[in-house]
Amino acid sequence: MTEALLSVRGLVKDFHGRGIGGSRQAVRAVDDVSFDVFPGEALGLVGESGSGKTTIGRLIVRLEEPTSGRVELRGQDVRGLSGRQLLAYRRDVQMIFQNTQGAFNPRRTVRSVLTDPYRIHGLASGPELDSRIANLMRRVGLSPDMLDRYPQQFSGGQRQRIGIARALSLEPALVVADEPVSALDVSVQAQVLNLFADLRRELGLSMLFISHDLRAVYFLCERIAVLYLGRLVEIGPRRTLLEHPAHPYTRALVGSIPAFRPGGGFTREVIRGEISDSGPVTTGCHFAPRCKLWRELGQPSRCTQERPPLRPVTGGGVLAACHFADVPPDGTPEVADTVAGRAGGPA
Ligand SMILES: Nc1ncnc2c1ncn2[C@@H]1O[C@H](COP(=O)(O)OP(=O)(O)O)[C@@H](O)[C@H]1O
Ligand code: SF4
Ligand SMILES: [Mg+2]
Repeated sequence: MTEALLSVRGLVKDFHGRGIGGSRQAVRAVDDVSFDVFPGEALGLVGESGSGKTTIGRLIVRLEEPTSGRVELRGQDVRGLSGRQLLAYRRDVQMIFQNTQGAFNPRRTVRSVLTDPYRIHGLASGPELDSRIANLMRRVGLSPDMLDRYPQQFSGGQRQRIGIARALSLEPALVVADEPVSALDVSVQAQVLNLFADLRRELGLSMLFISHDLRAVYFLCERIAVLYLGRLVEIGPRRTLLEHPAHPYTRALVGSIPAFRPGGGFTREVIRGEISDSGPVTTGCHFAPRCKLWRELGQPSRCTQERPPLRPVTGGGVLAACHFADVPPDGTPEVADTVAGRAGGPA
């Protein structure tokens, strides 16, 4: 079996903020999350706003320190790194951010932005540096003639291309892209997603691609991980996960995108409530307050008392954190039933 490039194990991150009435309140933004990213693979991380996606990205690139758990690159715990090893890690793992407006100093030209990584790491200078930077610009679909312009002279999509160029400059082993197309116009989103796909093909890039948009993740990634309130609720190969979603939350997410439903024509299933309605669930399943299956099953106490572990379900390499993931969904027809039925599976 291939060794993982990145391994996240039991990652926990608590933030301490002010609650109602000024009382100190801890928010568990990331709650015992584990996953791997394999060499050359893109893993998509999806979830609603506030589910902890950005925090996981920041923990991986060490912009935050975990409360507990660990991040490993090629089997080495990154927590203990310092000096030269930390510098090497910062070269190996790069992050691309959503906000292209705030990502650059407006007083510095693109040339100076792209020169920085080489200067900091002492990797190239003179004509070699000029030629590398020109190549980077071409690789992300921009003309080297634009190098002496300032970031604000570019469109949002072009600025994101510069962000990608900066992230790629040091030939990283892993790119963490946090909602890199979410702030862009829809037509530009497709162009930038295509650029990511091209770069993956050309460079064999490994990625953690963070998005709230299941379609973007499906387009770009081999595997998908679904996050709900800081917990991983399902992870697996993209096709299996979308055609046979096992966790009620994933089923609802997939059900809200009619284009994903083979055959179409199903009623659109909308997840009831908001993420904030879930309240501070400390025991059991975080999703219970919004879970259709829980209601259909007569609100079993197991769901509110026992945290469901991530476990293999439905075959095909999918893991899901639901006590009842094996119970066939009732009511709204699900993709899983339909596809299996048509393929001649057991009635
Ligand atoms: N620096 C911080 N201080 C306090 N709370 C934070 C901080 N960063 C994130 N959070 C909280 O952690 C949770 C997850 O946030 P985030 O990782 O940004 O989610 P996402 O990227 O999925 O929208 C949210 O409840 C958010 O308010
Ligand atoms: S464990 Fe229970 S509440 Fe949680 S998703 Fe499964 S059925 Fe719903
Ligand atoms: Mg975010």
